[in-house]
Amino acid sequence: MNQPAIFDTNRLILRQWLASDREPFVRLNADPRVMEFFPTLLAPEESISMIYRIEAHFEVHGFGLYAAELRQDHTFIGFIGLNIPTFDAPFTPCVEIGWRLAAEYWGQGLATEGARAITEHGFQQLGLREVVAFTVPANLRSRRVMEKLGMKHDSADDFDHPQLPSDHPLRRHVLYRLSRADSSSSAPEA
Ligand SMILES: CC(C)(COP(=O)(O)OP(=O)(O)OC[C@H]1O[C@@H](n2cnc3c(N)ncnc32)[C@H](O)[C@@H]1OP(=O)(O)O)[C@@H](O)C(=O)NCCC(=O)NCCS
Repeated sequence: MNQPAIFDTNRLILRQWLASDREPFVRLNADPRVMEFFPTLLAPEESISMIYRIEAHFEVHGFGLYAAELRQDHTFIGFIGLNIPTFDAPFTPCVEIGWRLAAEYWGQGLATEGARAITEHGFQQLGLREVVAFTVPANLRSRRVMEKLGMKHDSADDFDHPQLPSDHPLRRHVLYRLSRADSSSSAPEA
């Protein structure tokens, strides 16, 4: 399989994971601000396992959740990329776009900037017809990124996350979709 692409945006490099990303990734997943809309904080070994799973996904599919670093000083700030969910839902199989950044770097348009490069790659190079994104209704920051990418929310697509117990407060999710056709015509500015 070809080497996965590396992306340069104005302010970011999206690349394969390095051993030096592990420590800041462990910190990021242990930060209650970052994990507010996830069931639990991650223990260090869970963060490392997640990196292994991400790397395995790249091996199998040639794309995945890229490590994101700042171009100006090469600081690792989180991930932005594409992922194939492993659970069954009415909208699967699908390719989702995902993002998780350290809280110090929020609010500067970085997630949107990286996600734009990734969706364009997905549509133009990988030939995807659609990407989806999902989160809990209260995750307004993430939903705003989806909206800025031009993704569309139809409440008929909302779903209960099958990997959470039926009474879990984070079970309900909203789904956003972006088709290749819509992406080329109408993505709004950041
Ligand atoms: C979601 C996340 C990646 C966004 O990263 P980011 O780089 O701050 O995103 P951007 O700056 O590109 O856009 C964030 C938008 O949310 C808006 N926003 C921030 N806080 C908000 C709030 N409380 N309510 C509504 N909108 C909010 C910002 O104003 C910005 O929109 P704008 O450009 O129109 O002003 C980041 O908050 C994060 O990593 N969160 C924790 C992990 C997570 O929840 N991941 C998503 C799981 S689906």
